[in-house]
Amino acid sequence: MNDFTNIVKSRRSANNFIEGVEIPQSDLEEIFGLVKYSPSAFNLQHTHYLVVTDPILKEKIYESCKQYKVHTSSAVILVLGNRNAYQGVAKINEGMHNLGILSKQELDRTIEIVTGMYEGRGETFMKEDAIRNASLSAMLFILSAKEKGWDTCPMIGFDPSAIKEILQIPDEYETVMMITMGKEKISSQRPRGYRKPNGEFVSYNGM
Ligand SMILES: Cc1cc2nc3c(=O)[nH]c(=O)nc-3n(C[C@H](O)[C@H](O)[C@H](O)COP(=O)(O)O)c2cc1C
Repeated sequence: MNDFTNIVKSRRSANNFIEGVEIPQSDLEEIFGLVKYSPSAFNLQHTHYLVVTDPILKEKIYESCKQYKVHTSSAVILVLGNRNAYQGVAKINEGMHNLGILSKQELDRTIEIVTGMYEGRGETFMKEDAIRNASLSAMLFILSAKEKGWDTCPMIGFDPSAIKEILQIPDEYETVMMITMGKEKISSQRPRGYRKPNGEFVSYNGM
């Protein structure tokens, strides 16, 4: 089995973690160093990761969602999607312009196209796109974490408004999901859930 197949097949959503394991900042930085290569619409990089390792904050999060793995995790990561990411289009592309890769005309055209698309399609699209892009990034986070020896669990079983208040998350960010991270307590692992065969979730050239 090659490394990628092994990572994909051995990844599980941890049911619980070994308590008291600290995650080195350097491991997190290495993981985010891979996560930044995630694709994003117009390369707008809508995703922001809010990493919580502070025990007091972590307990507040645990109190708000009562999922025990939050308590035993080494870190709780909030995956946020910026609904206004399109407003960063000039900033993201100006470096390419300064290097002479994008002409002034191409830069202006990019800004016009991106701004026109997001403002033309409106709030619902901005929200959906924040969730879409952050979800893709989150999958890469989960796989990168596994590659570095860390287990995770993506979670939606929490109250987003309580989390927003505890962590003072600005309004323009969608709280897309929570990821708990640590060393999995293998004795608590659940059997792998049934997976549909390809024939039930893939169709070619029409449904
Ligand atoms: C968007 C999303 C939200 C989830 N929320 C929770 C959650 O709140 N609590 C939990 O224990 N597991 C949660 N899970 C984990 C799923 O239950 C798990 O991925 C699924 O049962 C398949 O198991 P596996 O990931 O080990 O293959 C979530 C997964 C996803 C993708």
